[in-house]
Amino acid sequence: MDLPPLLLDRADERPLAAQLADALRAAAAGGAFRAGDRLPSTRALATTLGVSRTVTAAAYDQLLAEGWAAGRRGSGTFVVGTPPGTRAALRPPVPSRPVSRPGIDLRAGTPCVEVLDGAAWRRAWRAAADVPPDAEPEPVGLPAFRSAVVEHLLRHRGLPAEPDHVLATGGSTGAIAELARTLPAGARVAVEEPGYQRAVAALRAAGLVTVPVPVDGAGMVVDALPRGLAAVYGTPAHQYPLGARLSASRRVALVDRARAEGFLVIEDDYDGELRYDVAPLPLLAALGPDVVAHLGTASKLLTPTLGAGWLVAPPAVRGAVLDLRDRTGSRPARAGQRVFAALAAHGDLARHLRRLRRELGDRRAAVTTAVTAAGHAVIGDAAGAHVVVPLPNAVTERAVVVAAAERGVGLDGLARHHGGEPVVHGILLGYAGQSRRDLDRALPVVREVLAAVPSEGPA
Ligand SMILES: Cc1ncc(COP(=O)(O)O)c(C=O)c1O
Repeated sequence: MDLPPLLLDRADERPLAAQLADALRAAAAGGAFRAGDRLPSTRALATTLGVSRTVTAAAYDQLLAEGWAAGRRGSGTFVVGTPPGTRAALRPPVPSRPVSRPGIDLRAGTPCVEVLDGAAWRRAWRAAADVPPDAEPEPVGLPAFRSAVVEHLLRHRGLPAEPDHVLATGGSTGAIAELARTLPAGARVAVEEPGYQRAVAALRAAGLVTVPVPVDGAGMVVDALPRGLAAVYGTPAHQYPLGARLSASRRVALVDRARAEGFLVIEDDYDGELRYDVAPLPLLAALGPDVVAHLGTASKLLTPTLGAGWLVAPPAVRGAVLDLRDRTGSRPARAGQRVFAALAAHGDLARHLRRLRRELGDRRAAVTTAVTAAGHAVIGDAAGAHVVVPLPNAVTERAVVVAAAERGVGLDGLARHHGGEPVVHGILLGYAGQSRRDLDRALPVVREVLAAVPSEGPA
């Protein structure tokens, strides 16, 4: 155990032993010691602190007398508990379930780990562990990971790229934060409204000014983009949260404007691989490789706990990100990259993706059936891992969320996905993050609470 800093003041009129006892007690109260920790010997502590052994022995005697340390002859002094009134003692008891999490959580954002093949997962981790330790960081990402990403992008997103064009990231949100820090503070960045609020927060945290742009059934309204932007952030494959796909004509218009006005397009392709019955459109990065920073992630395909994502961007943007990483000493961790590469190398990733699409397609159909049976409609493409049920107003939205929570089902309202005053009302139903059994148990509740409120009418 490392000793925490212990301050003794010879100018203080209190005896050194009392000061030391106080300092040790305070360190324990701050969590520096846990029950079972062995305190240093009185001799070693005296040497470290430059005091006589009488001082340390007297301090230990005091703590032994108070009962939170115990001495064992020949084996030293041990912490047996924490002094009363300490931080540990004041900590509230941990509830068995987080209070805000109802029994079955249908909020969007969690992946479907249920269909992950356990054997393939373990195989990938074994392969990832079977390498000697490396001493040098690799800020661009591991070669095997970048090659796996290139193949993944070509096979599943139709994007031809060279491994050199790919940078590993720790995930899309972190990469948005990195890109944000490469833009001049105070610059204006357009964001979808409603949209992905973590991206908005990451942009703002970098000192950028976010400019909300409306969204309709064809994705971000490109004509509504103001002039004077440094960047546009969006989710063209599957607008988050409303689920539309940016239309082909808007894609072309956006890339044309980026070239003409000199802004960067940040394409957040967070779940673009998950489409069920609609053909994908060309990525913005395919239409405008010179003006688009494309972000992909393993978070929805596999799990965010891998912390593995990728950035494909023009050389100047990649250079700026690498420069930032160099200056700030940050780099993506390797373990997740290795696991991703191992899953790809054995064909397990492609198999998993097929299984995932099938499972999520089925789940989506079950959710849609429950919603329509309640007299409501879903909006958005048949893609991703959530649907949106529009509702006529904020009061109805809130009522549905509360009624479902009272019956043990967690739903997400659209209000939370607005940066400003909500302009679209409704609920998101995430259908990936729970077991199939739990989803089937929750859907009758969803159906009942929705049946009790008016629908939005024809979309
Ligand atoms: C629109 C959007 N982008 C990105 C992400 C997260 O990606 P990552 O886990 O790679 O940061 C999410 C996750 O919910 C998302 O909804």
